[in-house]
Amino acid sequence: MKTYLVTGGAGFIGSNFVKYMLNKYNETIRLIVLDKLTYAGNLINLESELDKVVFIKGDICDQETIKAVFEKEEIDYVVNFAAESHVDRSIENPQLFMQTNILGTQNLLEISKKNWQIDDDVYKESVRFVQVSTDEVYGSLENEGYFTENTPIRPRSPYSASKASADMIVQAYIETYKYPANITRCSNNYGPFHFPEKLIPLIIKNVLEGRSLPVYGDGTNVRDWLYVKDHCKAIDLVLHKGKQGMVYNVGGHNEKQNIEIVRIIIDIVKNFMVEKPSYQTILKTELSKINYELIRFVKDRKGHDKRYAIDPTRIKCELGWYPETKFEEGIVKTVEWYLENQNWVDSVASGEYKEYYEKMYKGR
Ligand code: NAD
Ligand code: DAU
Repeated sequence: MKTYLVTGGAGFIGSNFVKYMLNKYNETIRLIVLDKLTYAGNLINLESELDKVVFIKGDICDQETIKAVFEKEEIDYVVNFAAESHVDRSIENPQLFMQTNILGTQNLLEISKKNWQIDDDVYKESVRFVQVSTDEVYGSLENEGYFTENTPIRPRSPYSASKASADMIVQAYIETYKYPANITRCSNNYGPFHFPEKLIPLIIKNVLEGRSLPVYGDGTNVRDWLYVKDHCKAIDLVLHKGKQGMVYNVGGHNEKQNIEIVRIIIDIVKNFMVEKPSYQTILKTELSKINYELIRFVKDRKGHDKRYAIDPTRIKCELGWYPETKFEEGIVKTVEWYLENQNWVDSVASGEYKEYYEKMYKGR
């Protein structure tokens, strides 16, 4: 039975990955989830899985914790989701991003290397480390072109600079020590358990509450959206079939301007309310007030990347990956999930996040 160490497994993508893997491999794998449970990590995300995984509350930066995991468990795979992930927060407090995203990754690499190495440049059979990275390391595109794996790294925010640094350290381990790793660079994910500070869940939450919908700048920035389950499928493929040392871009050719996303969500919420009137009990506003007039163009994000667009040719051709969920279906499923899981939204949007939310959006 293979054992996976999933760091950051209580966050958005990590918790979806845990569900994906349990569902796909059923009882035939052992999952160890290690998470610091920051404001973004919630055990409620793993409520139905907690009896099927080993959960460790821990920090990837902490050498003793990580050493203890490797001493106690025969780890075959590490999937590193653990990170500070929100660009706006990185602009406010870059240092935490450097600590977790860079030093935490290096700590995982070093301790796993020591445990997996059996001779110079030789490692235990079929062990693998996947660094879950992002298209943001490539920087920003204008209207034309796509990021390929050969696009030069040009991060432009503290978040993306920290992720790019981590990628370079992983690559240094691959080159120097022949360390068995891959890097995946995915575009924007959406789906269930997405923390409501990110665009899509924030807009769903605000629409239901009749609050204004903050759109940065003129709303024409473009993101390339992928349903989270398709990202999980890509990581599973890379773990088991990826060529040693290779970088894989992951994206579904689904570019949308932010303003389009906001309008689409308003329309979908409204449709649900009309077609299933029982949902109207969720509304903290009148149905007639759910319209485009809620949109507010607010001060732009500093250094706001204009456009991301992934070329996923390598993962498609080499590993046979393709995005299964069409955006038109995925976004309806996602809005429905939020309508059905208002307790989750209330639960995660409290505490530290609440203070942050009030500070960020006061006066908008
Ligand atoms: P998230 O913020 O929802 O989850 C991050 C998780 O990491 C949380 O559970 C948090 O508690 C945990 N964590 C933070 N610091 C930690 C530490 N020091 N030690 C242990 N755990 C820690 O983020 P997400 O959106 O799920 O992203 C997961 C990974 O995927 C990140 O590495 C991110 O850079 C990458 N990524 C995200 C997207 C996206 O669209 N969300 C796209 C591409 C890549
Ligand atoms: O591209 C992958 C990246 O996608 C991941 O690496 C990051 O971890 C993840 O957070 C995400 O980064 P973005 O900055 O693209 O996501 P966010 O949801 O914060 O913003 C999406 C777009 O929407 C971006 O252009 C900024 C804009 N925006 C965001 C918020 C929160 C708004 O216009 N208003 C908002 O209130």
